[in-house]
Amino acid sequence: MKPERLDKILAAQGGWSRKDVKALVSRGAVAVNGQTALRPEQKVDPERDQVTVEGRAVTLRRHIYLLLNKPAGVVSATRDPRERTVVDLVPEPLRRRGIFPAGRLDKDTTGMMILTDDGDFAHRILSPRNHVPKTYLARLDRPVTAEMETAFAAGIPLKDGDCLPARLERVEEDLARVTICEGMYHQIKRMFGVCGARVVALQRISMGGLELDGTLAEGECRELRKEELARIRG
Ligand code: URA
Repeated sequence: MKPERLDKILAAQGGWSRKDVKALVSRGAVAVNGQTALRPEQKVDPERDQVTVEGRAVTLRRHIYLLLNKPAGVVSATRDPRERTVVDLVPEPLRRRGIFPAGRLDKDTTGMMILTDDGDFAHRILSPRNHVPKTYLARLDRPVTAEMETAFAAGIPLKDGDCLPARLERVEEDLARVTICEGMYHQIKRMFGVCGARVVALQRISMGGLELDGTLAEGECRELRKEELARIRG
C-alpha cells in the first residue's frame, strides 16, 4: 500500500472527520510509531506504521469490505427517505463514510450482499465483462422442470436482451439453484416468468466463489477475510 496522509486515512476509519483529526493532532493526541504527530498531512504507511489516538492503537485500513446476510424488507441503497436500507444494518464500529452495497437485491430477496467503500472493487465485481457468477436459491409456485433447465442453458430472451446461458439445478420439487453471470433488473424472477413460473422466495447464496456464511443470522454482517477478498476478486 502507498503511504497516505494521516488525516485522510484516520478519517476513513469512520470515527472522526478530517477536522476532528486536525484537532486531535493539534492537541498532541495522535502518535505515529510512538512519536507525537505534528502535522495532519504527515504521510503514514497503513501496513507498517503504528498509529495511536489518545493512547489507543488504531487499525488502519484503506477500505472496508463487509459480507451481509440481507433480510427481506430492506432496500439495497445507501439512504432512503422511507425504507430501511442495507447500510442502516451495519453496526457503528463497521460503518464508514461512503459505504454502499456492491450490487442490488430486490427488497424481498434475502442473502449474500457485499458492502464496501471501494468503488474500484465494486466496479470490478459488478462489471458484466467480468462474469462474476452469482448463485441463488429460488422457490417457485410450481415444480421445477427439465424444460426450464434447457431454456436457462440456452439463454432466456428478455425484452431488454437475451440472458447469457445460466445453470439451473433442481434441489427440491419446487426449489431450484440458479447461477447467472450478469445482473439484469429482476433477472431471476423474469427468467422464471418467461418459463411460466413465479418466484415466491429468492435467496442469494454465493458470489464469485464465496459462499454466504452460515453463521451470519439475517441482518448481520462481518468483515471479509483477506483470502475471501482475494477469491472474489479472482
Ligand atoms: N434476480 C431477481 O429477480 N431479484 C434479485 O433480487 C436478484 C436477482
